[in-house]
Amino acid sequence: MSETAELIIDGKKYELPVIEGSEGEKAVNISKLRGASGVVTIDPGFKNTGSTTSAITFLDGEKGILRYRGYSIEELAENASFLEVAYLLINGELPKKSELDHFEFKINKHNNLHEEIKEILNGFPSTAHPMGTLASIVTSLTAFYPESLDPNLNPEETDKMIYRLMGKLPTIAAWSYRNSKGKPYIYPSDNGYCENFLQMMFGHPNKDYNVDPVVADALNKLLILHADHEQNCSTSTVRVVGSSHASLYSSVSAGISALWGPLHGGANQAVIEMLEAIKEDGGDTKKYLAKAKDKSDPFRLMGFGHRVYKNFDPRAKIIKVACDNVLEKLGVNDPVLEIAKGLEEEALKDSYFQDRNLYPNVDFYSGIIYRALGLKTDLFTVMFALGRLPGWIAQWKEMRANGEPIGRPRQIYTGETLRSFVPMEKR
Ligand code: SDX
Repeated sequence: MSETAELIIDGKKYELPVIEGSEGEKAVNISKLRGASGVVTIDPGFKNTGSTTSAITFLDGEKGILRYRGYSIEELAENASFLEVAYLLINGELPKKSELDHFEFKINKHNNLHEEIKEILNGFPSTAHPMGTLASIVTSLTAFYPESLDPNLNPEETDKMIYRLMGKLPTIAAWSYRNSKGKPYIYPSDNGYCENFLQMMFGHPNKDYNVDPVVADALNKLLILHADHEQNCSTSTVRVVGSSHASLYSSVSAGISALWGPLHGGANQAVIEMLEAIKEDGGDTKKYLAKAKDKSDPFRLMGFGHRVYKNFDPRAKIIKVACDNVLEKLGVNDPVLEIAKGLEEEALKDSYFQDRNLYPNVDFYSGIIYRALGLKTDLFTVMFALGRLPGWIAQWKEMRANGEPIGRPRQIYTGETLRSFVPMEKR
């Protein structure tokens, strides 16, 4: 006998099925509640509401656990390449050598951009935020590959659409950066996903560019740490947009826009801007902690807190260690790192943060590494998008394969009740 939950509304009892996931998580299935009772549930921000079942990523916020397809983030960050993890997320299993080689071959084959995309890029002012450029160019891929608009593509065509997106996003990101600097575009190479990106970002058309293996390794780790995170804001956006049978490109473009927000992926840029402000203000971390606690002050401690992790974000722990290693290996002494460490130490001892389970999240240290790698602050969220891409693809694919219905939440109306039209002369 499967478990049920009982709901009593206006004296009437309703039995609702309870489902249990492979990790023992339980949910009350309310999909038939309105039909049976005329009543809906409400949960602003979906803090207590599951939108779907998924076999891609498991996280336990209380225990600080994060796994992709059952593999721990710690093991993947330590042992895998980003493309291995991308393959795992999208296809469900770690690839054999031949499968990974084929995956990488196909992505490399599609990593160049249609020459006319340069015209679109050149139309952006140099001051354009690269997340806006990224979202726009990704949507423009539907114009260059109109077959992507077909919601019933066969598996081979769907794979090609995925190879194109995995291959082209780093090129779009790098060319957006080069365009903003008035630098010539560097064409993509087959020298490795991270190495290729760094070469397109910082290379020269007329001389060799040697990728620092420390930088490439740090980038590989950062991309893995950002690759998926179950039903976060941007991933939920990708799934909801895709549920209307919009193309993968349009769905991911919407995800990029959602990620851009400073409360989500945009936090890594906001963290550095915050640390810089504290540095300019004489490093007065106590003043900024007080601002973060002051309800009359809109200031939040960026990089702190998380919707799900009410313990340390396991990714933040890994990034914090990588941060020390990368800065030491590169010989970078970044004063904001010390401010970050001081801020973290004071916040973790402060009852306001303790009582609300506010810990450093993935964005708290990542910006410091990106800066050490030579990236401009407004590119940090672009790096988050490059990492999150395989997760978005995997989640979009799963939603379509499951034949999920179009996402369309209900509401409770609180506006004016019926009233008659008022002619202009009587208003
Ligand atoms: C990401 O969902 C994901 O998985 C996201 C992500 C991913 O991989 O996709 O992990 C990536 O987006 C990480 C989060 C990056 N954002 C930030 O660092 C921005 C700063 N953090 C917050 O704004 C906030 O913590 C959120 C948005 C991350 C979570 O917000 P919630 O879950 O809606 O929590 P809340 O806003 O209801 O806050 C609960 C309490 C409130 O105080 P009270 O009303 O209870 O008195 O905690 C306070 C908040 O004011 N609070 C903070 C705070 N975060 C929450 N106070 C000061 N500084 C903060 N950063």
